[in-house]
Amino acid sequence: MRTRLGGVNALYPTPTVLVGAMVNGRPNFNTIAHIGILNYGPGAEGARELISVAMARRHFTPQGIREHGQFSINVPSEDLIRETDFCGVVSGAKEDKSSLFTLFYGELPAAPMIEECPVCMECQLVDTYEVKGYHVFIGEIVETHAREDALTDGKLDLSKIRPLLFDMSSRKYWGLRPEPVGDCWRIGVGLKKERQGK
Ligand SMILES: Cc1cc2nc3c(=O)[nH]c(=O)nc-3n(C[C@H](O)[C@H](O)[C@H](O)COP(=O)(O)O)c2cc1C
Repeated sequence: MRTRLGGVNALYPTPTVLVGAMVNGRPNFNTIAHIGILNYGPGAEGARELISVAMARRHFTPQGIREHGQFSINVPSEDLIRETDFCGVVSGAKEDKSSLFTLFYGELPAAPMIEECPVCMECQLVDTYEVKGYHVFIGEIVETHAREDALTDGKLDLSKIRPLLFDMSSRKYWGLRPEPVGDCWRIGVGLKKERQGK
């Protein structure tokens, strides 16, 4: 027995990020959960990795992204839950949110990043789609900055990053389980062999 929910998006959780941009000459950060991965590795046309960010047009941050064509994606850990939520309930049009954080910059001058976040990506805007009240910004990741304490053997370690997972249904932030559930591209191989009768 199943219940029909209508066209409810059941793809959550998504990571909660702080999108940084330079708006009216000031760094601003907007909490965003509607973020997507568009590819992996260098594309056929030599593109770097691409990411999408869906941001309501009425927000303050889009002005800066459209003006400069640059933005950052900062991944907060569970420790930054209050600041992250704050950036999602207060607009930069009313308050200076940048004073919450220690800022740093990489290659892109209009992509302010947050020192307190374990991982930050600076992105060059490559495309913008208009979708019913939203800008969907497509950014190419120019550089990724990770704190040492977010890495194990030089690789990003989710158990150290401890991202805030967003769920629209419960409207809560969720944490990761302490242990992964299985190995991608491996855990299904046993079933594949079983079905092939091996
Ligand atoms: C957990 C959370 C997730 C959010 N996700 C999005 C989102 O994906 N897209 C969006 O347009 N707004 C989202 N918001 C709302 C904006 O973060 C909020 O309106 C913010 O104050 C806008 O800031 P700005 O006006 O400084 O740009 C989210 C808010 C919270 C608390």
